[in-house]
Amino acid sequence: MSIEILQVGPLLPSVEQVLNATYTVHRLWQAADRNALLAEIAPRVRAIATSGNAGASAALVDALPKLEIVSCFGVGVDAIDTAHCQKKGVIVANTPDVLTDEVADLAIGLTLATLRRIPQGDAFVRAGQWPGGKFPLTDKLGGKTMGILGFGRIGQAIGQRAEAFGVTVVHSGPRDKGTGHRYYADLAEMAAAVDILMIACPGGPETEKLVDAQVIAALGAKGYLINIARGSVVDEPVLVEALVQGKLKGAGLDVFVNEPQVPEALFKLENVVLQPHVGSATNQTRAAMGDLVVRNLAAHFAGQPLPARYC
Ligand code: 8YV
Repeated sequence: MSIEILQVGPLLPSVEQVLNATYTVHRLWQAADRNALLAEIAPRVRAIATSGNAGASAALVDALPKLEIVSCFGVGVDAIDTAHCQKKGVIVANTPDVLTDEVADLAIGLTLATLRRIPQGDAFVRAGQWPGGKFPLTDKLGGKTMGILGFGRIGQAIGQRAEAFGVTVVHSGPRDKGTGHRYYADLAEMAAAVDILMIACPGGPETEKLVDAQVIAALGAKGYLINIARGSVVDEPVLVEALVQGKLKGAGLDVFVNEPQVPEALFKLENVVLQPHVGSATNQTRAAMGDLVVRNLAAHFAGQPLPARYC
């Protein structure tokens, strides 16, 4: 009798293949009646395999009394009720480290694309506008100051890359990371002092709308905002309004509050570069993340320490 697990949403085909070969997998998102499926499998399901966006709610955890572990495809666990899992003695595993470089690369790519207006230049050439006049001048990255909100693994990897472009890096977050980069306990104070505000902190209730009207005003008309973390960290309507009114110079956004829905007002703006939440989305990194999802589950059921236990 193989171990029974619940898969909340679709995963990489290669991951699903391994899971299907190893476990009896119940596919929640495909069930005609989810409650009926949950009621039927509740006495037997010992693990959840989920993604960063599908997550696992407290209600789902409660519906599975034999649940031992939630294995998440993604480093961000904000869609999983981790406090509830801890209370219930359910382990949460995620996929840190393997995606750090990839997300940091996109953060720098998005920064350059936003300051140098690379997508706009591409559109200009394609539209045949070049013979009609020169493309407007853009902003240099080197010499700027970047304030990184969330100076953890990904934030520091972004900082290293930014420094290679001649950028001065400072940081903000719950505490000074002691890396020698200037620390601001006050986020608005940091925003006022930098050219680029880079958001790289975790999502969830603790960071919700941390980047609010005051922080956006402090960043001001000379400032750029880049977000590769979670849309929830920013007060999105305030951000959109600031961009529409030119109260920010520009933004590069990979994440949004209500993905895959993006505020339509952004589509018309010349000063934003938009991405469909693809920080970790390369063949190589997604394969490594999938492998870790599988290895976390395997280690748990073998009674071994998990390669990546979150809590
Ligand atoms: C994924 C992410 O896109 O790791 C994260 O936290 O945001 C991304 O790598 C997300 O988890 C979707 O599964």
